[in-house]
Amino acid sequence: MERTMNEIQAERGERPTPAAMQPAPHLNVRTNPGLTFDDVLLVPRYSEIQSRGDVTTDTRLTRRIQLAIPIVSANMDTVTESEMAIAMARAGGIGVIHRFLTPGRQANEVRRVKRAEALVVRQPMTLPLSATVRLARELMGEEGVGGLIVIDDSERVVGIVSRRDIMFVDDDDRPVADVMTPRERLITAAPNTTIEQARSILDEHRIEKLPLVDEANLLVGLITAKDIEHRMNYPKATKDSHGHLRVAAAVGVREGYIERAEGLLAAGADALVIDIAHGDSVNAVEAARGLRTNLGDGWDMVIGNVATADGVKRLADAGADAVKVGIGPGSICITRIVTGFGVPQLSAVAECAAAAAAYDLPLIADGGIKNSGDIVKALAGGASSVMVGSLLAGTRESPGMVVVRGGRRFKVTRGMASLAATMSRRSVDAKDHDSNAALPKREYERVVPEGVEAKVPYRGPVDDLLHQLVGGLRSGLSYAGASSLSELPERAEFIRITAAGVRESGPHDVDL
Ligand code: XMP
Repeated sequence: MERTMNEIQAERGERPTPAAMQPAPHLNVRTNPGLTFDDVLLVPRYSEIQSRGDVTTDTRLTRRIQLAIPIVSANMDTVTESEMAIAMARAGGIGVIHRFLTPGRQANEVRRVKRAEALVVRQPMTLPLSATVRLARELMGEEGVGGLIVIDDSERVVGIVSRRDIMFVDDDDRPVADVMTPRERLITAAPNTTIEQARSILDEHRIEKLPLVDEANLLVGLITAKDIEHRMNYPKATKDSHGHLRVAAAVGVREGYIERAEGLLAAGADALVIDIAHGDSVNAVEAARGLRTNLGDGWDMVIGNVATADGVKRLADAGADAVKVGIGPGSICITRIVTGFGVPQLSAVAECAAAAAAYDLPLIADGGIKNSGDIVKALAGGASSVMVGSLLAGTRESPGMVVVRGGRRFKVTRGMASLAATMSRRSVDAKDHDSNAALPKREYERVVPEGVEAKVPYRGPVDDLLHQLVGGLRSGLSYAGASSLSELPERAEFIRITAAGVRESGPHDVDL
């Protein structure tokens, strides 16, 4: 016998829906309304936290990758390339390099992040003794390094040339041998020198680079003052066991994704994000299996996006080490309008979190984060971290230039399924190096975009924004009486608010 909706709700412990609001019986409609961040507030709890400094924001991105702050920069072409990924990792989060670049360029972005810091640089950049100042200048520019070790034909160290040495050299054809610091004046150390010992040698001789050489005078590593300084300035940085910043990178599910993934792992990517709009699909599952079969399992696999418990289970079974949640909540998304599909983000996170718990699988709440309060709500709903797009697109480290309109500064962001991004991707796929000029007009007309382009206010260095976001999160933990993110969901009680409550929650009745 068919049960009435009220009977079903009573069984589930839900409040009965008033008759007038009940859907027609032939529509399959979930009875609980989907909630998103602005629909709710968190109810304050008794707290023994005495200061915001008493809480920890440690979390995990994937089963194996730990983060000191639960913030991930989105794999969007207006958000994350190497500069953003470096800043995110230094702050204790992580960035996901977008995939709308040729495989070679994407791998290069990964390499730049991995090379930005190290305990000991194991393969320092070198120059042959016959090299010219021109070559030194070019290499320093391309590789972003301030010094190159000069070696002879038998690979023995014969000197070092620094940016300062070539700064005022007019004749670029001069051999570096003329301007370098030669071996007899070069300070070096033995291969087993500790960081502490290196620090005092650098300090004693007022130098910036300490090559490590073995008994045969062969180069085995390099310790730099900059790396030591970074370690002091960014004590919570997300790093691998060699002291390199961690970075993730996105791959798609279409032709060539395995070769792209291979290149990214070879460049040192710590995790790959299988990026597909509808993650609960055969394409995602097959891509996950394909990558595991071809590339083994010494790396972490994030898959997304999904918005249901079912989706989480399927991706967990396909081998995910973390799942990304969010269908349509993003600031630049129009998927819900174009397709009619989506789940309000907080409800999606909560449903997915219940399923993920059984697999001990971290969730990344992706999209719709407008402020630190939204981060607190997403984590209280069961996510382990949040992925942020447009909010970070306005910062100095995002790709793209600052534009000035009406005396105010902006940067541009765009959905990765927007018309412009889709066309740009097609031209990259066509090996057209990011230029879409050559594409025929008809192609534009046939795109069905699921994202928009927009401008966002320029926000300055990402570090300042992260400081505000993490400060808000710490404060949120203290309102919950939670000393860590893992305690937050169990202490979270949400309260639905009305339009009047939303209005009351922001500044009101004052002139700003
Ligand atoms: P926020 O709100 O942080 O969201 O800007 C970033 C997330 O939005 C997703 N994204 C898209 N979703 N069409 C969509 O439906 C798009 O064109 C699009 N581009 C990005 C993505 O999950 C991102 O992390």
